[in-house]
Amino acid sequence: MTRKILVTSALPYANGSIHLGHLVEYIQTDIWVRFQKMLGNECHYVCADDTHGTPIMLRAEKEGVTPEQLIARVAEEHKADFAAFHVEFDNYGSTHSAETKEFSETIYKKLRDAGLIEKRSIEQYYDPVKQMFLPDRFIKGECPKCGAKEQYGDNCEACGAAYAPTELKNPYSAVSGAKPELRDSDHYFFRLSDPRCQRFLREWTRGGALQPEAANKMQEWLGGEGESKLSDWDISRDAPYFGFEIPGAPGKYFYVWLDAPIGYMGSFRQLCNAKGIDFDAYWKQDSDTELYHFIGKDILYFHALFWPAMLEHAGFRTPTQLFAHGFLTVNGEKMSKSRGTFITARSYLDHVGNTEYLRYYYAAKLNGTMEDIDLNLEDFVARVNSDLIGKYINVASRSAGFITNHFNGEIRYFDDITEFKNHAEELRAEVARLYEAREYGQVVRLLMKRVDRLNEVFDEAKPWLLAKDPSKHQELQQRCSLILHSFKVISVLLAPILPELAEKIAKDFFGLGQKFTWDDAITATNSIQPYQHLMTRLDPKLIEAMVAANKGSLQPAAPSPQPSPARGGSVHSEQRHAEHQQHTASKEAAQAEKNFEPFIGIDDFMKIDLRVAKIVNAEQVEGAEKLLKLTLDIGEEKPRTVFAGIKSAYDPEKLKGRLTVMVANLAPRKMKFGLSEGMVLAASGEAPGLFILGPDEGAQPGMRVK
Ligand code: 2FM
Ligand code: ZN
Repeated sequence: MTRKILVTSALPYANGSIHLGHLVEYIQTDIWVRFQKMLGNECHYVCADDTHGTPIMLRAEKEGVTPEQLIARVAEEHKADFAAFHVEFDNYGSTHSAETKEFSETIYKKLRDAGLIEKRSIEQYYDPVKQMFLPDRFIKGECPKCGAKEQYGDNCEACGAAYAPTELKNPYSAVSGAKPELRDSDHYFFRLSDPRCQRFLREWTRGGALQPEAANKMQEWLGGEGESKLSDWDISRDAPYFGFEIPGAPGKYFYVWLDAPIGYMGSFRQLCNAKGIDFDAYWKQDSDTELYHFIGKDILYFHALFWPAMLEHAGFRTPTQLFAHGFLTVNGEKMSKSRGTFITARSYLDHVGNTEYLRYYYAAKLNGTMEDIDLNLEDFVARVNSDLIGKYINVASRSAGFITNHFNGEIRYFDDITEFKNHAEELRAEVARLYEAREYGQVVRLLMKRVDRLNEVFDEAKPWLLAKDPSKHQELQQRCSLILHSFKVISVLLAPILPELAEKIAKDFFGLGQKFTWDDAITATNSIQPYQHLMTRLDPKLIEAMVAANKGSLQPAAPSPQPSPARGGSVHSEQRHAEHQQHTASKEAAQAEKNFEPFIGIDDFMKIDLRVAKIVNAEQVEGAEKLLKLTLDIGEEKPRTVFAGIKSAYDPEKLKGRLTVMVANLAPRKMKFGLSEGMVLAASGEAPGLFILGPDEGAQPGMRVK
């Protein structure tokens, strides 16, 4: 049966950039949504920018733009960041929309008519210079408990005490510096202390919509039966405020947290309007559709108490489940600007580029609980390179050639493979169960175990020997066919995590003409296309450069492997970056030379994959002082590009057609001029001159040098 599912992620504030912490949630949600869509469920994923409130209003003022201009600009940035990380919303809206305004008013009026809104006068700090009431975070002063200076109006960062802003000693406005005055003002409250709300929330929080640890927390906040720990919620703010004015209350605005979750409805309404989806089917009180909110554990209070209470008493359905996740730490600690680990999405894109590395790593760490997850940058590089490239992609790259070269790409079996097929069905069912439960870490572990097994099967089969003996060609075809079919099964099952790579595998490698469907995991594989490079290793230097760049202490010539057009890098500075890379490379080589060990084992030597390479093309590189661009054939499907620092010694024309030796397994290096996929070897000494190596006559491109 097709399920009808509406999924949301929390709405990011419109005054900040998307960073790696945010991305945990969007990637987690996107994987779940892609999985549901692959299964064939009707699943809609909506989100929006959270645009209202004092900080956004003040930020716009500081930038000399209107709040509308600010949120329009940030919306474009957010959308571009999400798209780059393959987070695919069906609609990305804004809380500053006609739809969200209408639902906010409707919900407010329903609550008011139900007697759940109360007007009360409260005493609040007012900035007489700026002429505005001050939110708690905009009042600073000395902590009433420990005396620490410059603490916010809600809690002390030195001793952790929580208090009311009126308790601060020597308070001042963080906006103007003025001494704030206490003034009275009418505020509107949502009466959560009303027995109807208490009764409803007590029941709802126990009804299975919350993870067990979240349900316990809510019970704590609600208090025991008959106890009323929940106080009424102040949902209004005084002008000036960027938001929606409350109907019938001039000069009063909805507090940002009132209309933020309503933004889920507003964004979905836009999708319904565009696609002809029945909005009410998803939001009416007795709806049989499913509604899931992915959120961080820090905003559970709003989503597990205020939001369901608002919906229930305004006559809408409540969420089926809230999926709360933990926080992101980087290298075991809170993200920090001084350590360079507060990394924005844009910075990751500029330095690392491939966003599926991060999707894979997050997936490998995620589960259905609220535990924090750690991005250990060293482990990140190791895992991506060993699991994704060293194991998974390796399955295809090493087996494909046999099927392509000997059997014209045809996948074929000669024995009965029923048992094998049954295994694939079982695997698919188990993976589906794990995706549904958000146990992505288990999905990854399970599939990587299969990948390990496939590599073992390949090694045991020794296809390179089978290929030499024509009487063993049936066996060669069958064994490689089973391995490649299994590679397809695994690729289908990894598609929610690695959508772009999976699409490339489906179309370019299996020639399917479309993305994988969930059923491709259990249908036959008939043929493959010649193997083409699928994924590049992650160079740890890119991560180092990213962290260095985020420390904000870069010298002008610091490396920026992919200068960002968004940051408007001038030609001049790009030039400097490129030259800097050349210097860095030669400095590293010199350093490596100094680090010579007196002896190394043969194992160490064998780690270096030296290959005979034919220079099929050599050319000058515009703007490069020392480099030539070489195109090298080492017997692979596609030639490699290598930027070599040999311009001073060679005329490119004379290099064409020559054989030389390259290091084929050196991590690819992103340079200003393109990706360098290896290194050619050259001799040099005290005397001037640089001499590339050449093998003896008879050597063929691709031969291993050892
Ligand atoms: O915490 C935040 O970043 C909020 N902008 C999340 C809002 S989620 C929803 F309620 F809109
Ligand atoms: Zn204190």
